[in-house]
Amino acid sequence: MSHQITPVRLGLIGAGRIGTMHARNIARRIPGAVLAAVADPVPGAADRLASELGAEATLDPAELVGSVDAVVITASATVHTELVIAAAEAGRPVFCEKPMALALADADRALGAVGAAGVPLQVGFNRRFAADFRAAHDLIIAGGIGTPQLMRSVTRDPAGAVADPGAVKPWTIFRETLIHDFDVLRWLNLNAEPVEVFATADALVAPEYKSQGLLDTAVVVVRFENGAIATAEASFSAAYGYDVRGEVFGSAGMVSAGDLRQNAMRFHGADGLAQQTVRGDVELFGDAYTAELASFVDCVREHRVPEVTGADARTALAIALAAMASVEQERPVRLTELDGYRTLDLTAQS
Ligand SMILES: NC(=O)c1ccc[n+]([C@@H]2O[C@H](COP(=O)([O-])OP(=O)(O)OC[C@H]3O[C@@H](n4cnc5c(N)ncnc54)[C@H](O)[C@@H]3O)[C@@H](O)[C@H]2O)c1
Repeated sequence: MSHQITPVRLGLIGAGRIGTMHARNIARRIPGAVLAAVADPVPGAADRLASELGAEATLDPAELVGSVDAVVITASATVHTELVIAAAEAGRPVFCEKPMALALADADRALGAVGAAGVPLQVGFNRRFAADFRAAHDLIIAGGIGTPQLMRSVTRDPAGAVADPGAVKPWTIFRETLIHDFDVLRWLNLNAEPVEVFATADALVAPEYKSQGLLDTAVVVVRFENGAIATAEASFSAAYGYDVRGEVFGSAGMVSAGDLRQNAMRFHGADGLAQQTVRGDVELFGDAYTAELASFVDCVREHRVPEVTGADARTALAIALAAMASVEQERPVRLTELDGYRTLDLTAQS
């Protein structure tokens, strides 16, 4: 006798670039889940994706929320908080792409709604599901490098990733790009609380847009309560591909993760040695993006707390906000200076 598992019916909100990738993963790569519906207010966007993958399409996210078992939010960052709240109030488990919110008050509203509804919320910090970052994390947890002392995290988007620098919202480099680094640094640092942030940033890739608020190059120093000192750096344009790396140096050793080589091929020619490099996020993190949603589906099915919670997202956001304040005020900023800052129980559901 075969035991058939009833698939979790997921509804995806936001049929843009990353939503398209997640939708295809749900439909084709995640056992136990089906893509039931896609919503996007831009006419034609949901239709195109839904018809490719055999799902229902709607212009109205509210209609979708009522018709599925769980919701995957991949819309633009500005609407994440309201969509998380709408899904939670309808009693639906939520996966939300980063950032969960752009302000601490919004993060608190999202956490409040999720907590009141008692639904799982997972946020899209996909690096935690990449095999090398995960192996580094497990090694650190097991005491392999001793006490973390120096840490670094690098995000360099590939040249061309930002098609229109004029359309980039102010502070994107902190709240949408480096937020990955802030989360991964804390996660690799045994969930230590961040205490102080110093950041400097400029528009070195597209200086002509600096007067409109563009920052495309940044370095951030984060000090943690356990003494570890971390740097996170980002650029919107690496000539050689998509470069994401992390490193933790401790009292008993050092561990690193991230490799921009696309494959192990090496070309030896008249000019020397050449290797091919990874060109984009979907290429580098394809398996991690699938694994994070597979993990979310397991949490929905088993009523488990997700591996990346809303509290994690709020803490990463707090570091980003402190970095923004640091750039504005040209000084180190303590997390406790932020309006509404408080530490959270990072093991709690939301
Ligand atoms: N985890 C990662 O590595 C990663 C990578 C890229 C993007 N992202 C995040 O994913 C989100 C989307 O990024 P993107 O590059 O796909 O952007 P995008 O602009 O390509 O797509 C956004 C989509 O959201 C839709 N949308 C806007 N308002 C909506 C609403 N109220 N309801 C439903 N849909 C709405 C837009 O019509 C568009 O189709 C961002 O928050 C971004 O930071 C995460």
